[in-house]
Amino acid sequence: AQNKRESLFIVTNWAGKFFKETLWDTEEGRTVGLNYFKERGYREDIIQKFELGYSPEAWSALYDKAKAEGYNDEFLEATGLVIRKDDGSVYDRFRGRVMFPIHNLTGRILGFGGRTLKTDKKTPKYVNSPESEVYHKSDVLYGLYFAKKPILDADNCYLVEGYADVLSMHQAGVENVVASSGTSLTSGQIRLIARYTKNVTILYDGDEAGIKASLRGTDMLLEEGLNVKVLLFPDGNDPDSYVQRFGSAAFKKYIAEHQRDFIFYKTQVLLRDAGGDPVKRAAVIHDVVESIALIPDAIKASVFVRECSALLDIEERILIAELNKIRVGQARKA
Ligand code: GTP
Ligand code: MN
Ligand code: MN
Ligand code: MN
Ligand code: MN
Repeated sequence: AQNKRESLFIVTNWAGKFFKETLWDTEEGRTVGLNYFKERGYREDIIQKFELGYSPEAWSALYDKAKAEGYNDEFLEATGLVIRKDDGSVYDRFRGRVMFPIHNLTGRILGFGGRTLKTDKKTPKYVNSPESEVYHKSDVLYGLYFAKKPILDADNCYLVEGYADVLSMHQAGVENVVASSGTSLTSGQIRLIARYTKNVTILYDGDEAGIKASLRGTDMLLEEGLNVKVLLFPDGNDPDSYVQRFGSAAFKKYIAEHQRDFIFYKTQVLLRDAGGDPVKRAAVIHDVVESIALIPDAIKASVFVRECSALLDIEERILIAELNKIRVGQARKA
């Protein structure tokens, strides 16, 4: 099994080199792929650092090259780089896409995300490597290999949605950033972050999906005992579009001024939806206390109860009673 894993690693890392060389050393790669990255505002040093690449617009460019160099079908299929059809024929998973390799903690490539350059609604925007014996998605965070030291130095980790957000933030000089990349945040990913810091700031897209994911992510992070701040970008922006539009100084200023403790963020978001309806407001209070109840540290939880009491103008003892009720319920379930 160790041998097989090693073979899969060799294949994914060979493919990383293939995509990279296609980007820099072929006519198609340069005019299509490299041009795309540059149009999006990425500098060459960032493109190189993250080992970005390009997959040719052809059915079996990777497969043919791999076969010519003696690689086995078994490993090409097991890593999902090629797909075998029922009739036995084989084709490349990634075709005509810009490629983002996903690295493990030691910098080896586990798999890829490939972004289409097409703008039609039918083509999926991203195609990703499937799960394999080396790529366990729930235990991988995009960018962590490059962010390990910056996270330690800052004692904080920014959590974003996508590959592009990680790249643009690095380019802006904010390197303590990782992305969950499409999959919703898992406890395995959170424990990875917790090895380096207990402080996470969620920077999700300023759209409905981003808001929902941020609330869910908040609860999961609280449950793992982390300190959570949240910030959403305005008008449907994400960290990438904000940096590229307004520049790195404005980006850093925006983060500094708009990040909020989860409790302020959650209260604000939920109250906005509740409006003046007293029944809905009561549900909001219940929801916020439910999040506080996830915090394992009782002292920390009590600090948030006090803040919540001030924010929502509810007597602290009522919130404490509610918190205890929820805790009893949690204990029964456990
Ligand atoms: P850009 O448009 O390149 O800036 O991507 P984005 O990261 O802003 O994309 P978006 O906010 O729409 O989605 C966030 C993340 O979800 C992406 O980085 C991908 O990892 C994932 N994702 C987005 N679209 C798809 C898709 O069509 N299929 C899959 N599997 N994942 C997707
Ligand atoms: Mn989005
Ligand atoms: Mn986005
Ligand atoms: Mn984006
Ligand atoms: Mn409830």
